Amino acid sequence: MSIRTLDDLLAEGVSGRRVLVRADLNVPLDKQTGDITDDGRIRAVLPTLSALTGAGAKVVVCSHLGRPKGTPDPKFSLGPVAGRLGELLGTRVHFATDTVGESARSTVDALADGEVALLENLRFNAGETSKDDAERGAFADQLAAFGDAYVDDAFGAVHRKHASVHDVPARLPHVAGRLVLREVEVLSRLTGEPERPYVVVLGGSKVSDKLAVIEALLPTVDRLLIGGGMCFTFLKAQGHEVGSSLLEEEMVETCRNLLERSEGKIMLPVDVVAADAFAPDAAHDTVPADGIPSKRVGLDIGPETVAGFAAALKGARTIFWNGPMGVFEMPAFAHGTRGIAETIAKADAFTVVGGGDSAAAVRALGLDESSFGHISTGGGASLEYLEGKTLPGIAALEN
Ligand code: 3PG
Ligand code: MG
Repeated sequence: MSIRTLDDLLAEGVSGRRVLVRADLNVPLDKQTGDITDDGRIRAVLPTLSALTGAGAKVVVCSHLGRPKGTPDPKFSLGPVAGRLGELLGTRVHFATDTVGESARSTVDALADGEVALLENLRFNAGETSKDDAERGAFADQLAAFGDAYVDDAFGAVHRKHASVHDVPARLPHVAGRLVLREVEVLSRLTGEPERPYVVVLGGSKVSDKLAVIEALLPTVDRLLIGGGMCFTFLKAQGHEVGSSLLEEEMVETCRNLLERSEGKIMLPVDVVAADAFAPDAAHDTVPADGIPSKRVGLDIGPETVAGFAAALKGARTIFWNGPMGVFEMPAFAHGTRGIAETIAKADAFTVVGGGDSAAAVRALGLDESSFGHISTGGGASLEYLEGKTLPGIAALEN
């Protein structure tokens, strides 16, 4: 891979230079309080930021948060993230209340060597996500004016053809940050020649989100274990009724087709935890996967399934896991996710947790992060990497 790295940039010397860092500080927030519920993505970018401040750079950090629609929306302000980032870095983070306006300009101008600024949410500007090259380019020009060099450390966003990820690197000397480099190194071990048996566990709510990766993985993996909300569309494809569980009716035929072509590699739940309602205190019990009562909703995989999946994971030498096995945010329906996570944590294998919800689940369930080989910060990005797609953010660094 012909990508220059942070070490190359540091070797040139960055003291007194302005370095624009694209980070993925898109952290989950509590819906009621707005508090950061998982700061994993903030912590993941610290090595890059500390290396730059330590070398005397003026560090200008930018990121998106959530999906505001191209205009400022206080719900998605990065203000609270600036506070948390400052705590973790152990230094004040100067926060600009706009992205490329007056506040950003004066904040960047006032930076002393070794100081850090965070710009307001990139997606408060329509140019960031625009499909129009000229509109994106114009925004990228404004961003690029804040840096003498550019570091991409936003692995979670490298699959997006957005101004800060795809167009800014065309305008500045650019390198990959420590996080992006590590993520790519790890994931390339999975797409190269993974040590076998190679077992993949997929969960999460939608089959449609995972279809491309299932297609790409089937020829490569030895076993593909499917849980989470998406398993019900597969169960339906096997001819079972799924009650009022999550179902993508239009995907049933596709799932049937995948099952037929999978040479028995796909393993589905044999029991599920079915509840009266989608609620933390709903009455629930374990039922066979082919006997879900019509008014019940499946919210987790059952204990027999956990045991079966654990047996399939036993002896694996490479494991990739993406997506929770159930509604782990509700303790009554967290047993499946916990059981699988603990099994993977104990496995004598190279283990990778795909980002987003599964990474958050590992931390929310209080599991030891260091018992996994790698916890990716990218949900969609890691899946698209495994699909073999060209990632705009990585391609831009290669040029
Ligand atoms: C993510 O959370 O998956 C990344 O931050 C990318 O966000 P997006 O899916 O809104 O582009
Ligand atoms: Mg996403």
